[in-house]
Amino acid sequence: MIRTQVLGIGSYVPEREINNDELRFLNEKHEVCEQQQIDTNDDWIQARTGIRARRYVPSDESVANSDLAAKAATSALGNADVAPSEVDCIIYATLSPDVMFPGSGVLLQHKLGINQHECACYDIRQQCSGFVYGLQMADAFIRTGMYKRVLLVGSELQSHSLEFATRGRDVTVIFGDGAGAFLLGPKDTGDERDGVIYTRCQADGAGAWELYLKLFETRRAPYFNYDASDPEQNIDKYPQMHGKRVFLQAVRNMVISTNTALKETGMNWNDIDWFVPHQANLRINQKVAEVAEIPDHKVLNTIEFYGNTTAATVPLTIDHWYKEGRAKKGDMILATVFGSGFTWGSAIFRL
Ligand code: COA
Repeated sequence: MIRTQVLGIGSYVPEREINNDELRFLNEKHEVCEQQQIDTNDDWIQARTGIRARRYVPSDESVANSDLAAKAATSALGNADVAPSEVDCIIYATLSPDVMFPGSGVLLQHKLGINQHECACYDIRQQCSGFVYGLQMADAFIRTGMYKRVLLVGSELQSHSLEFATRGRDVTVIFGDGAGAFLLGPKDTGDERDGVIYTRCQADGAGAWELYLKLFETRRAPYFNYDASDPEQNIDKYPQMHGKRVFLQAVRNMVISTNTALKETGMNWNDIDWFVPHQANLRINQKVAEVAEIPDHKVLNTIEFYGNTTAATVPLTIDHWYKEGRAKKGDMILATVFGSGFTWGSAIFRL
């Protein structure tokens, strides 16, 4: 039976590290100002989110989202020892694409020099759940024989769309830039616990306006009708979030999704090496671990270093701990995500 294998993993984060103290003094060009720009502080951020730092791309227009993706993808291809020319499908998950259209998948394909005649390029959204949604797509494509080398990328460049003022502080302190990638392919095996074992994706659009970024609305004419530099008018330029409601929904649905994944596969925590939750808030992950009775030593987090990198969090976290020697090829992983939409889901796979 054909099953989907993880052939390679990779990630990339920009070099510039912004700690919580420095963040307070940044303006929207990410220059460090003498005057504090955001009324926040390290104690508040660490106590409420667990975040100590995040990475930002340079603000000189030299780096696009697809550049972060290309670096993560190149590292995943290298890890799998597969040439870019062998990739026949790209699935690109992001909420911060290079431009409105075309999607970032084709831009990545071009940057990697992948043959234009033999590579389909998909762009998916699903925000913080993008990676698990993409894994489900990749798994279906591979098991049906549609594609043989699927490059699944989660990549975000969020630092240029955050509000560097007290009004947006709840959101601004959370997000960072980064990318992660998996290369996936088929293997003929009778082992039911090999490769991708389980994926389940869910959504509830009733929560759509709990966490969103409008930027524009196509129902309007003109569709973009505010002075983007005027704080009285430009709220649609920045992400908006009802933090407490998102927090509660995230904990609830991540617990149910995780427990359902175990129940439907007949597995328990003895079968799982690592729980990799989406990295939105360390407090969410601690609560999920407590309620779902997940052994603490099996939880992998990276939010303290990178903040919330949305579609990139799961592959970035796995690759971070793989490079540190904690996660290893062959380990069994249960990943659970939750994000804007609301969207959420879980996956169980062997690394
Ligand atoms: N620094 C300092 N103070 C801040 C702040 C910041 N960055 N952000 C908000 N505050 C203030 C608020 O203005 C409020 O002040 P007030 O009591 O004077 O009105 C106070 O802190 C409490 O705000 P609240 O929003 O109730 O805090 P919270 O405990 O809910 O924490 C979040 C805020 C954003 C950390 C938390 O709600 C959260 O993490 N939610 C989930 C977010 C998430 O997961 N998003 C991504 C999903 S994929």
